[in-house]
Amino acid sequence: MKNGQIWQDVDGNDIQAHGGCIIKHNGLYYWYGENKGADNKIARFVTGQTVSRVDVIGISCYTSTDLLNWKYEGLVLESNKDDEAHPLHTSKVVERPKVVYNEKTGKFVLWMHVDRADYSYAGVGVAISDSPTGPFTFLHAMVPNKQDSRDMTVYKDKDGTAYLFHSKDRNKTMNIARLTEDYTNVDGFYVSVLADQEREAPAVFEKDGMYYMVTSGCTSWDPNAALFACCPCVNGKWKLIDNPCRGENADKTFFGQSSYIFEAEGKFYLMLDHWQPENLKKSGYSILPIEVTDDNCLLIPWQEEWLGI
Ligand code: DGJ
Repeated sequence: MKNGQIWQDVDGNDIQAHGGCIIKHNGLYYWYGENKGADNKIARFVTGQTVSRVDVIGISCYTSTDLLNWKYEGLVLESNKDDEAHPLHTSKVVERPKVVYNEKTGKFVLWMHVDRADYSYAGVGVAISDSPTGPFTFLHAMVPNKQDSRDMTVYKDKDGTAYLFHSKDRNKTMNIARLTEDYTNVDGFYVSVLADQEREAPAVFEKDGMYYMVTSGCTSWDPNAALFACCPCVNGKWKLIDNPCRGENADKTFFGQSSYIFEAEGKFYLMLDHWQPENLKKSGYSILPIEVTDDNCLLIPWQEEWLGI
């Protein structure tokens, strides 16, 4: 699979799983993401600046045993076509779906950025399912801890505690909000980190007791330089370190933007979206291995191809 390009599933159809995540459950990999398989429209941010969008279709799921051959499992959460007030109405924004499995409840919990077309709501939506292939039932939308929330991810720590990482204060600062034990809400505890650093697209992992967060800058669909931050605990004082990308076009994250970091067979991989703002449904993907150095630095060189594991 050529990194940076749109990939096809085992039936030869474009994979529609943007802003997504990959989790492993019972030996199978599940890739969830935004289905953007519709024609572009133009919307306006609250700031007045124009932005391309597609109507909400839903959240796709694909499965694979080798992270290369992906079978389409369908839409696990569908848009709402009738109720304009519903957070999943086709006219809204539903981005960056992240799924975590809750061992205690046996439920799969899906968090996503939900918004109005002008990004003025700035909240999250939560849905649950008994099965990784859905269907997911939408539970609620909220502005977590009364803090605006745009790009986000969910990170499940080693002890089973899960956290919502979300850009807040109009993307100026990152919040890390602890989830309730069943992962369906925030529990009220949060810390604000990377104050005034204007980072979005958070992707988080932990290795050997150090936590790492890769983020992008805030330039809408346009690429910019990634940065990584690290911290010895999830709720601590995160410190921005450097751009982890190496080689040509590293200053533009190889024309991609972070969506998620997953672990496969003891190694960590960064998923990138390569947005095509003129035709969002053709936005591409990359998966790049992450090297963690002994002095807690991340190195991510470009690779032309994703060869799986
Ligand atoms: C950048 C974000 O990372 C994307 O998820 C999307 O919200 C675009 N901005 C919209 O411009």
